[in-house]
Parts: sequence; C-alpha cells; structure tokens
Amino acid sequence: MKFIGSFKILGDKAIAHRLLIISSWFKGQHIINNFPKNEDVLTTLNSLKSYGLKYKFTNNSLCIDSVKFNFKKGTIDCNDSGTSARLLCGYLAGGNMETKIFGSKSLSERPMDRVVCPLNDFGADIQSAHGLLPLHIKPSLNFNSFEYNLKIPSAQVKACFILYAMFMKGVSTIRGLIHTRDHLENILSYFGYPITFKKNEINIQGVHRIAKNLSVELPGDISSASFIIGGAVLLKGSSITIKNVCFNKYRIGFIEALIDMGANISFKNKKDNYGERVADIIVNYSPELIGTKINSDSIPNLIDEIPILCIVASYAKGKTVINGIDELKIKESNRVEAILNNMERMGGLAKVVGNSLIITPKNKLHNTTINSFNDHRIFMAFYIANLIAGQDFNVKASEGCYKKSFIDFFDILEEIIA
Ligand code: S3P
Repeated sequence: MKFIGSFKILGDKAIAHRLLIISSWFKGQHIINNFPKNEDVLTTLNSLKSYGLKYKFTNNSLCIDSVKFNFKKGTIDCNDSGTSARLLCGYLAGGNMETKIFGSKSLSERPMDRVVCPLNDFGADIQSAHGLLPLHIKPSLNFNSFEYNLKIPSAQVKACFILYAMFMKGVSTIRGLIHTRDHLENILSYFGYPITFKKNEINIQGVHRIAKNLSVELPGDISSASFIIGGAVLLKGSSITIKNVCFNKYRIGFIEALIDMGANISFKNKKDNYGERVADIIVNYSPELIGTKINSDSIPNLIDEIPILCIVASYAKGKTVINGIDELKIKESNRVEAILNNMERMGGLAKVVGNSLIITPKNKLHNTTINSFNDHRIFMAFYIANLIAGQDFNVKASEGCYKKSFIDFFDILEEIIA
C-alpha cells in the first residue's frame, strides 16, 4: 500500500472558527469557500446562528448573512469544541448580555479558568463551576481597555482576549506568550480592522465596527494534512502533493520536525492568500528517518500534530524527545496517556520522563484495536499507524470522532491509497 496523488484538503479549522466570528462582527453578506463542515466548526456556526446569523451551504461554499446578528440573552452548547468555548467566551463577554455556555462531558473537564480569570480581571462578570464549564456571563458596566501579559502559550486564550478587546474603549495590549497561531490577527488586519502586532505585543483598537462583505477561500487544514503526510513519509513508494495548504509559520512545526528527521518534503507555489501564507506540499516516501528533539517553546507550533509525530518517530533511527508536554494532557483527551496506551498496544515504546515524551523505535508496530479516548487526533494518528502496520485491524463501528476536525478523512484516504 502507498499514497499517490495530487489533491486539496478542506479549509483550516482554526481559521474557519475565527472567520465565522468575524463574519458576525462585520455586518454584511459573506462567502467562505472551501469551508470544512466538521463538527467543531459547525458548533461555532450554530452558536452564532442563535444570535441571528443566517447561513446557507452550496456544497463547501458557505454564504452568511450577518446583517441581523445581535447580542441577546442566550445559552450556547459548545459540544466538544474547546476553540468554540474559549473564543465565544471572549466574544460574548464583550457582547455583554447574559449568556450561559455549556458543553459535552469531555469539554466540561477542560480548563476554562485560563480565560475566565483574566476576563474577570479586565472587568467582565463571568461565573464558572470551579474554573470549568458551565460558564455564566453576566452584563458588566466595564468597557475599559486592558493590558495583559499572557502566561500560557495558547492561541485560543489569545484569540479570546483579542475578541473581548474589540468591545473595549481605547487600545488594549497583549504581551507575553503571544507567539502562537495568529490567524485572528491576520484576518482582522487583512480586512482593515485596527490591530497591530509587533514582535512582543499586540495592540487592538476597540469599538471599531465595520460593515463589509467578505469573500474568502480557506487554505487547506495543515493539521488534517499532517495525518496524510505522516502516512506518505512511512509508506514505501508514496508520492503526494497537497495543494494550497495553510503554511502559517506557527502551524508548520510538524513539517519542520519531519524535515529535521530527514523526510523527503518540498514546497511549491508559496504565496499569500487572504492574509495567510499558503503552499503546495510535496511529500515522498522517506526511508532514512532519524529521531529528533522538540523544545518546549516549539510545542505550540505542532501541538495538534504530536500524536502523528509519535507514529513517525517510531519508525526513525534513534530516540525522539518531545519536551514540554503539559498542554497535551488537557486536549480532547489526555493525549499523553492516550499515546502511551496505544503505543504499548501496538508493541511500540513510548515513555514519559519528567515533562518529556520519549519515543524509542523498537519493533515495527503491529495492528490493534484503536483506543481513541473519543479524541479525533488520537484516532486518526493510530488509524494511520494501523494502515502502515498493514493487516486488518478493528475500528469500532461507533468510531466517528474524526468528524470533529477532518470530515473527509476516509474519502481522502480512499482517493490516494494505491
Ligand atoms: C487552537 C489552538 C490550539 C489547538 C486547538 C485549536 C485554536 O489550542 O490545540 O486544536 O484554534 O486556537 P491551544 O491554543 O489552547 O493550545
């Protein structure tokens, strides 16, 4: 089995969440092409719908009418989507109407204090259940701009504060650990919103309403592409080109790590599209991989790709050491535990030493039943590992968690498996 072909991938999930929110803020009629109809993004779309945003799909083209969008008292269900919950918390707190935010059991175990505590310090009035969902946002009389030193390298948290700042009088400033995916900053500045980002700070001018019609083509989702890229690197004879993929400098840590490991990857057609860097990524089978070391400050650049990186690392010569794995424990599952569990079941060798995850190539991994922990990225990483192992394996009939982020995972595989 090998992966062969030249193809496109549906639009980037992180950009899609942000663009939806901005489409409601920029009152008008908007078109978003190559829209990924995955569950997480539909969660944000449906939440905005409850505030009067109208939409219609024609295949993967989404038409939005936000003219009647208005903040009002409401309740939103963020299902499993951490990005929806964190970003909408900032946006709806800025909208300043009584709002309740709840979510699935898994989302209700993930920390919300990272956004709630600072927002309350800025003057919002949000109650949480000991730092977890459900959240209860109450109207506040405060509309003053703020300055904040971000202590967690989280793009979700940063975007939450940028969205909140858009409602505050004057210029708000965010400093600290801001070097994470900057899609919201890119969208806002591309469409003329007064935001500036320098090396060490982001400045957001508040209360700046824009009436505008957006027409955008989303670049392919680099995180979804990574599962296919990981498979192509490991499957003998593979040769693929994924066209027009998001190539944001804070998203390509996985590609950089693979190149460092000796993978045969190149790029063409690098360009800027709607404020984002995009490229075609060419990947060929790479038999001579060596282990690598990921430093903790690079983690945000490949946070979602660590499960598939571990699979690739199992086939390299020498150890791979991934430092600074704390944030990995509070994703849709505890991904550190999920990786250790599935690696062991497949006969691989993964262990945790202090705050590092170490993958030591041992045997060729063998097939197993995937224990996904209902986590899309764990499922897809170990699905690819099982494809590489080569024999029949068991996927539970109920397993649909890949739909949270990569709705056409199996369609793409069917297209490229030769
Ligand atoms: C995301 C940021 C990352 C990532 C998540 C999506 C975003 O989370 O893991 O899948 O859209 O901002 P953190 O920023 O919390 O690390």
